[in-house]
Amino acid sequence: MMPDNSWYKELVVYQIWCRSFKDNNGDGNGDLLGVLEKLDYIKSLGANAIWFSPIYPSPNADWGYDISDYKNIHEDFGDLDLFKKIVDEAHKRDMKIIMDLVVNHTSSEHYWFKESRKSKDNPYSDYYIWKDGKNGGPPNNWLSIFEGGAWEYVKERDQYYMHAFAKGQPDLNMDNPKVREEVKDIMRFWLDMGVDGFREDVITFISKDPDFPNGFPIPIACGIEHYNKGPNLMQYLNEFRNDVVKNYDCFLVAESPMTGAKDAVKFTSGKDRVFDMMINFEHMSADCFMTDTVHLPFSLRKFKKALGSWQTKLYGKAWNALYIENHDHPRVISRYGNEKFRTESGKMLATVSYCMSGTPYIYQGQEIGMVNNHLKSLDEFKDVVTFNNEKVFKKIGMPRFIYLKIANKTSRENARTPVQWNSTKNAGFTTGTPWFGVNKNYKEINVETEEKDPNSILNYYRKLFKVRQENKVFIYGKYKEFYKRSKKIYCYEMSYKGQKALIIGSFSKKSMTFEAPKGWNLCNDNLVLNTYPDVNNIVDNKIDLRPYEALVYLKK
Ligand code: NOJ
Repeated sequence: MMPDNSWYKELVVYQIWCRSFKDNNGDGNGDLLGVLEKLDYIKSLGANAIWFSPIYPSPNADWGYDISDYKNIHEDFGDLDLFKKIVDEAHKRDMKIIMDLVVNHTSSEHYWFKESRKSKDNPYSDYYIWKDGKNGGPPNNWLSIFEGGAWEYVKERDQYYMHAFAKGQPDLNMDNPKVREEVKDIMRFWLDMGVDGFREDVITFISKDPDFPNGFPIPIACGIEHYNKGPNLMQYLNEFRNDVVKNYDCFLVAESPMTGAKDAVKFTSGKDRVFDMMINFEHMSADCFMTDTVHLPFSLRKFKKALGSWQTKLYGKAWNALYIENHDHPRVISRYGNEKFRTESGKMLATVSYCMSGTPYIYQGQEIGMVNNHLKSLDEFKDVVTFNNEKVFKKIGMPRFIYLKIANKTSRENARTPVQWNSTKNAGFTTGTPWFGVNKNYKEINVETEEKDPNSILNYYRKLFKVRQENKVFIYGKYKEFYKRSKKIYCYEMSYKGQKALIIGSFSKKSMTFEAPKGWNLCNDNLVLNTYPDVNNIVDNKIDLRPYEALVYLKK
């Protein structure tokens, strides 16, 4: 019998990208002792789970998403004993811990790969995707997502290996049953230690088209239609589920780029589901043109359409993961809100995003309204994606200073600056030299300052998660949207077992009049969340909404 893991529906997950969270030993890198120190803080937000982005040994070609040892902890962060202590301490506080499971690829420094590249006939030869070249070049025209072509030549084998991401991230050959056994073994290792589940990194990439045909010629990720969602995907996922997941009281959240709500229903509904929920990317491209490196002005209609589609298509069948930030996207206030109205737009974005059905995920620093970094030089960046884009843009003749502007706006490094704890040197993140520059605004934006201010974003998040937890209409409710065509207002209703909630958010920097939709009589006695310190009067079922204001009414 599969354990009943439906508790995942009432989690609020806090994501830790450890290197930038809190440094305890003064070496400039965040670490697990820093996490231990802040467990109560995380709990105080209303979070009852932590997702660790990879904390395993890694040469950091992709800051941890290139793993060189799956059953250990990076020495910058601590060791297994310390990690076990965190699991125990979290459990004592009724908090769950999930790990990032990165098994589409390993690091090129992993023992398996080092062996695999040596010859065509050693125990690890078939652990990766090796192919002969064609006409003096790579096996096909595929391009990686992070670093040029998807194939790298290795002299010892006179063959090419495939990498969907960076060169230092060779893709595993999941068609090899031995590799699948390794994956199961890794899962058991962490679950036996007590972790409560996994966030599965680009998990839909694990099966490739066995013919390796040329892809549709586009300048980035050409061939992705053949290396995402291949023919054996379901078989492998079912195997992981039947042989491992079923035997533990745990949950799985899948990362799967280019997946729509319809697909999500396929993967996440019913008792035989292969994941408990999936990370939706659609609402995170409401300001993007084709790729997330090219930003256009934010489109509220695109944002609402994406969220609405997942809410309605998954309702009663599957489950949503709700998020607006993680380590792969710039800070949301700088994207969808307004840095000049940081507090207002930060609270409003939280309101409209987390009052709907699903499991909320928040990313370190989001709770205090951290915003994008504005670096002075491209030399200060540290991420393979930024480096690669720089090359791509150089090829098309773009001057470096223009690319700097683009990187400051669109790079995921904006989310990777150290967490700002207080206004002392280095924002209280470290007593040493931070591995990556602290955002210059730390004196104004930091946890200590937000703690003291009852109207801060931080205190608002606490209130929001409390209201959400106390009123199941937000967690399980049915979604209905009003004013769909509005470019400035996001308004929806949630209903569940006789309860009804109305969520209103303004995306405008100007005040405007809002009229309640049909069926709603606004009454401030029913107001359960408001983002300004005072409340406006309601006249004739109309209310003046101030810049980026959000309001939530609840009828019981
Ligand atoms: C998705 C992760 O979220 C991202 O940070 C990483 O670079 C890629 N997968 C490759 O593992």
